This record gives sequence, structure tokens and C-alpha cells, in this order.
Amino acid sequence: MQKTETFKQWFAESFPFDLNLLKEISSEPIPNHLKRWWFAIGGTPLYLFVIQATTGIILTFYYVPNPAEAFESVAHITTSVRFGWFIRSVHKWSAHLMVLTVMLHMLRVFFTSAYRRPRELNWMIGVGLLLTTVGFGFTGYSLIYEQISYWAAVVGTNIAEATPLIGGLIARFIRGGPEVSDNTLTRFFVFHIGVLPTVMVILLALHVVQIRLHGVTRLRFEEDETESVQVSMRVSAPVSPLRFHGSESESATEEEKTEERSYPFFPDHFYTEVIVGLTLTFILTILALVFPAHMGEPANPLVTPEHIKPEWYFFAVFRWLKLTSFQIGVVGSMIFLLFLLFWPFIDRVFLKKFPGKDVSFWIGVVGFFVFLVFTVWEAMV
Ligand code: HEM
Repeated sequence: MQKTETFKQWFAESFPFDLNLLKEISSEPIPNHLKRWWFAIGGTPLYLFVIQATTGIILTFYYVPNPAEAFESVAHITTSVRFGWFIRSVHKWSAHLMVLTVMLHMLRVFFTSAYRRPRELNWMIGVGLLLTTVGFGFTGYSLIYEQISYWAAVVGTNIAEATPLIGGLIARFIRGGPEVSDNTLTRFFVFHIGVLPTVMVILLALHVVQIRLHGVTRLRFEEDETESVQVSMRVSAPVSPLRFHGSESESATEEEKTEERSYPFFPDHFYTEVIVGLTLTFILTILALVFPAHMGEPANPLVTPEHIKPEWYFFAVFRWLKLTSFQIGVVGSMIFLLFLLFWPFIDRVFLKKFPGKDVSFWIGVVGFFVFLVFTVWEAMV
């Protein structure tokens, strides 16, 4: 007992952190609607990113980023390193799930209009997170140095090259030269284990700070007779859970109402996130056991394969490029990206021009439907 107290004292002196502050930060009230599981989706890519970083670091001990040895080193991890196949499979499946959950989270933010003022900047940071996530997928896929992933890198960098004005510069930078060469693998490796993780951590920190500063959007729900839940799409003024702004001026009754419709982040919401995390761990383990990552043909830069297949999340873009001319397809994709980035401001224009018409909602529905159809169409080829 005495020893524990001494250690506690020593630790408190060495690390003078105010635990009450941690308690205050973690017990903030959050809106009641976050009890619904689909509002906990935002935490899942974060959890998966931690899995990615952990398994990725383990894989880096064995991976050799050199075109002559890359494929062999992945084969070695898969067949000879103890539990190598499992770590590699979890890394692969977790990457797929991360892209999927980022997309689902984005859909929930879109269809609950949670990107509206004052959260426009956080939506834009979110678009950065989406691009970083698929960037991880693109570079990681090519590191295996299989025939199919090598040629996906060739096509991917060709797409980058077709971007007006800056395309040539970007493509040269990513490839490490005018064409895909031995340098490209080194570049992809540096992006995958250095640049993108750094960008991801910075964007995540900004994203979380924004969420803390603005609080999560308060939504109004109406329960229908069948006990299911409907989103009324009405978003009331955001109430910050932290006392950074706003709440001092709120009347006591407003504060009481806020209390009524909130519940504490810790332990209530934290436990929800833990359950989501455990469920994901279970799903990842099953996927890795039932569908372990395998090896394809080694890359052959001299032979173009008949079918080049990127990862599933690029299927829609791929289909779009096949339907249009390459140049128009790339310019169209860039316009779409800009549209996505500045969506909160475009939405504001629609709101002003067509009040009460739900134009943004229908644009979202059509956009999602087109994405789905293009993805399934390309998958079936
Ligand atoms: C690695 C990727 C991401 C992570 C880890 C992440 C995490 C989170 C978390 C934990 C929240 C709190 C509310 C919730 O759980 O839903 C949140 C809110 C938010 N996210 Fe993300 N997010 C990511 C990507 C994105 C993307 C791609 C977008 C949109 C393009 C986005 C836009 C937003 C916005 C606007 C909010 C505020 C929502 C509100 O106030 O209700 N996020 N995010």
C-alpha cells in the first residue's frame, strides 16, 4: 500500500497532469441521437486506422521496398513468417473496411446535413481524410508488386497525369520520373508509410478539434408508431458541449433542456465505441481466417494484362473513365472532387434559391445511386 502511494506520488510529480481536467473533457454531454449505432460510425475509421498502423509497422519489418525483392518479401511474409499471413490479411481487410466506414460516415454526415454552417471546414477536412484513406489503399495495393497491382499503379499515375495544368508535375512527383520505374516503388513506399500517415494524423487531429469546438450537430428525431426512427432532417443550432462559446449566454432553461437531451461521453458513449471496436475486431478476424490474403502473379512491366482491376472503391471512377474519353473523364472526376470539397457552400446556394425543396437531399440520392451502379457495373466486368 505504502509502495503504491509512493509510486503514485512519484508519478504525479513526474507527470503533473490534472486528472480532473481529463474527467471534465471526457464526461462532456453529447446529444441523445448519438445513441443510435449509425452515429457511432465516425469512430470506426479511427479504430481501423490504429489497426492499420499497428499491423503496418509489423509488416514493415519484413517488407523490402525494392522492385527485385518486393514480391518475394510479401510471399515470404505470407508463407514463412509466423502469423505473417494473419497480420497481412488483417491489414488488407482493415483497409477495405476503413474505406467503407469512411464512406458510410460521410453519407450519414451528408444526409443529416451535418456539414452545414459552422461545420463547412470540418467537411472539407473530411474530404481530405477520404482522399488520404483511398491514397493509402492505392499506394498499399501497388507495394505488393503483383502484375495486377503494378498495372493499376500505371493506370493510376496516367490518370493523375491527365489532370489539366498540374497533372504532369504531380505524375512525375508520384512516379519519381517520367514513367513508372524502379523509383516508383520507393515513392509509393514513402507515401504509404511516411507521408500519408503524417497527413492522416494531422487531419484527424484537426477533425477532432473541430468536433470538440463545435460539438456534434443536434438533430431532431421523431419516433413513428412502429417504434422505428426517422430523421426529420431539421437541424437546430449547434450547442457546444465545451464551454468555449455560447453556453454562458444560454438561459438556465436552455441549459436544462440540453442536459435533458444529452448523455455523458464517458462512460456511456465510450462503451458504445468499445462494443463497435470489439465487433470490428471479430469481423476482421473472421475475414482474415476465411479469406486470407494470397499472392497473384509477380509484376511484369513488359506485359500489359488483359484486364486491369483497381480496388473496388475506384471501380466507379474506372467505369466513368471507360464511358467517356480519357481526358474528359479525368476533367469530370476533378470537377466532381471540387464539387465534393465545396459542397457545403454549393448547398447554401441551393437552400437560398429553392427554399424548402430538399434539392441537396435529391442530389445526394442521385449521386450515391450513380456511384453504386457504376461500382456494380465495373465489378461485373
Ligand atoms: C478517417 C476518417 C474519419 C474519421 C476517423 C472521422 C471521425 C469523426 C467522428 C468521430 C465524428 C463525431 C460524430 C460521429 O461519430 O459521427 C465526426 C464528425 C464529422 N465528420 Fe468525420 N471522420 C472521418 C472522415 C470524414 C469525412 C470523409 C467527412 C466528409 C467529407 C467527415 C465529416 C464530418 C463532419 C462534418 C462531422 C460533424 C458531424 C456532426 O456535427 O454531426 N468526416 N467524424
